[in-house]
Amino acid sequence: MSATIADILAARLNKALPESPFAADLPEGFVAQVDQAQNRQFGDYQSNAAMILAKQVKRNPREVAAAIIEAFDGGEVSEAPEIAGPGFINFRLKTTFLEEKLSQLLADEEKLGVPVAEKPLTIVADFSAPNVAKPMHVGHIRSTIIGDSLTRIADFLGHEVIADNHIGDWGTQFGMILWGWKNLLNEEALESDPIPELLRIYREVNARTKDDESLREDCKNELVELQGGNEENLAIWERCIDLSKIGLQKIYDRLDINFDLWLGESFYNDRLAPLVESLLAAAIAEESDGAICVFFPDEKQLADKPALIRKSDGGFLYATTDLATIDYRIEELKADAIWYVVGAPQQLHFDQIFRIAKQRGQKADLQFIPFGSILGKDRKMLRTRSGDTVQLADVLDEAVERALKIVDEKNPDFSDEEKQEIAEIIGIGSVKYAELSQYRMTDYIFDWDTMLALKGNTAPYLINAYVRTRAIFRKLGSDFVKEGEPTLTADAEKDLTLKLAQFAETVPAVLSDFRPNTLATYLYELAVAYHRFWEACPVLKEEGAVRETRLALCELTGRVLRCGLGLLGIRTTEKM
Ligand code: ARG
Repeated sequence: MSATIADILAARLNKALPESPFAADLPEGFVAQVDQAQNRQFGDYQSNAAMILAKQVKRNPREVAAAIIEAFDGGEVSEAPEIAGPGFINFRLKTTFLEEKLSQLLADEEKLGVPVAEKPLTIVADFSAPNVAKPMHVGHIRSTIIGDSLTRIADFLGHEVIADNHIGDWGTQFGMILWGWKNLLNEEALESDPIPELLRIYREVNARTKDDESLREDCKNELVELQGGNEENLAIWERCIDLSKIGLQKIYDRLDINFDLWLGESFYNDRLAPLVESLLAAAIAEESDGAICVFFPDEKQLADKPALIRKSDGGFLYATTDLATIDYRIEELKADAIWYVVGAPQQLHFDQIFRIAKQRGQKADLQFIPFGSILGKDRKMLRTRSGDTVQLADVLDEAVERALKIVDEKNPDFSDEEKQEIAEIIGIGSVKYAELSQYRMTDYIFDWDTMLALKGNTAPYLINAYVRTRAIFRKLGSDFVKEGEPTLTADAEKDLTLKLAQFAETVPAVLSDFRPNTLATYLYELAVAYHRFWEACPVLKEEGAVRETRLALCELTGRVLRCGLGLLGIRTTEKM
């Protein structure tokens, strides 16, 4: 099964157009679109095709709509369409078609109706990418969660996705870290929990350099030694990276996030000098006051913003590394597309390097996927009580701790182990959902009470809806087995079926503008539709086909909720 309902209706509509009286005036290549209805009162789907055409043929849109409807054959899919408002064509699906759909969806256990991409792409997803030995800030939290979800969705749609953690493992912070390592390190603390100890050193040295000129010099020298290949410094650096990776991996495991590659900035060190040479040779870059720059005279927004790719002291920059990274990803990893999930403040950087890549003839589809900030309740940047940046590991700990309290209150008789496991799922799921249910550019307020609430558009509400779909089969004492063909009688059943079928339209739509929040909204609406169905339609009290159909709806709702939450990186539990 591959076509969505919107596709099926659009195909029928486009077949009607050449048969309408306006056929001769049809603009070349015109394709009518069909969308989910904004207001279900008027139908299930709608098209604005008549309004667009009316403009072209200079006729009254309602008249055009009427003519199209005249030529439209709804077949087994749709009732005769209706005209609404200024000329919308509204479609209402036939009940028999919905019944058939329900059957098909039940049979498609893996994809649940979602069509796979016609042209599968190789996509490199660049997300998370914290800087080693520096605090991972809230921006990295957003990048990690959004990037993982987009990766899962692209993978589900049949693309080949390579998740690459481009960690900052070669930055100037290593000057401070090296000095701190040599002078302030607590080996024991490092052994037991490396990331906080590295962070402590970094913060301490950073604070001391504020009014200590000679210390700043010392740190700089340590960095120069490292970059020059000093063995002691290289050894410390390597150990630092290894320990940090172990620490980060622990967080990713907890988040159930997986990277295929960890090609940090240092991986590209050897490629930077030749790259700059080739940019010079191609006359894309030029010398300016001893430095090497790329100017963009033809690009309005970049006209006075050249990209620096080699400093006058010979040092390379963030942009240089990113250009080498693009080459590697296209040439070695065969990327058709590269997605960068990075905070909005880096817009200029990506504008510049995408522009340079294009000038060099790179053909991959380069996408900058920015996001806004996370705010505290005071609407300022989220900080800890002591004013530090909030650490992801601490956020997860607190989320699970708070979820445990809720689980404990709700189910005092679960075993401790069970409670802990459920709390982990709900706590971490809540943090992820709070992120993914917002449009990524929105600055959202991080509020524990809202994100952990059992009611409203939250992870606990959705997970609970899933649990309810499962509870019925526990009560029944057996798993779902499809017997006869479904028959839909109540409105709440039809509404729920339609919603379930629209999963197929929702998942691919996420990638058109990289908005996991459209999937989150869909899942919330599905849970609400399920709730209505549940209130209106008794299941186990019924018999025969009605009971079977309702059991099928419970089963399918459970499958779609589990799959959809899974695409957001959120796990479900059977009880809570
Ligand atoms: N390490 C960078 C930062 O923390 C993010 C890297 C994003 N990826 C990239 N290819 N530039 O800001």
